[in-house]
Amino acid sequence: MNKSFVDTLKNRRTYYAISPESPISDNKIQCIIETVLTYVPSAFNSQTTRMVLLLGEHHRKLWDIVKETLKSRIPAEAFVKTEAKINQSFASGYGTILFFEEQQIVKNLQASFPLYKEEFSGWSSQTSAMHQLITWIMLEDAGFGASLQHYNPLIDAAVLNTWDLPESWKLIAQMPFGIPTGKPGEKEVEPLAQRMKVFK
Ligand SMILES: Cc1cc2nc3c(=O)[nH]c(=O)nc-3n(C[C@H](O)[C@H](O)[C@H](O)COP(=O)(O)O)c2cc1C
Repeated sequence: MNKSFVDTLKNRRTYYAISPESPISDNKIQCIIETVLTYVPSAFNSQTTRMVLLLGEHHRKLWDIVKETLKSRIPAEAFVKTEAKINQSFASGYGTILFFEEQQIVKNLQASFPLYKEEFSGWSSQTSAMHQLITWIMLEDAGFGASLQHYNPLIDAAVLNTWDLPESWKLIAQMPFGIPTGKPGEKEVEPLAQRMKVFK
């Protein structure tokens, strides 16, 4: 990390204007994912998170799948705008990271710990979120801009089929990234006094 963790956390934003270049080697991008999967915690150390790195034609294929899926589901007039957004903000990037959660592990935990049966699905989502945020921050640190997208569950079957992934992998989120070509939008931060309490 070149900057401090706090600076990188502050600089992480949603970037919709991204280009298909990378400030680091593909190996280093892979290293980011390996670091995330190795060091981010999970409920009961269940390690439910699965991540897929799509680069080059695989990245473009994902966004073709999203466009094909949406084209058949939304009115033609609305699709024109959607297609432009996908092309300019997601397909335009260098790659996409897919986040999944392994449902077989969730089911095994539910069977092993009946007392917490109702909680495991939520903990799996929280585990995924932790992986997503650290990935987002590490991409920022590497010089990328990224955003977080949710075209699941519409694209789930096509994604599993295209990359021959296990049926038990539930798609949670898609994170397209590339070199930023524009600034992120303005962001309002609600007063902290409404959102925290300190007792001492
Ligand atoms: C759980 C979660 C789901 C999100 N889903 C989407 C999404 O589907 N599409 C999108 O463009 N942004 C999505 N975002 C990004 C948020 O809109 C964005 O983080 C928020 O507006 C704050 O802006 P910032 O990321 O620039 O700080 C999501 C963020 C979170 C935390």
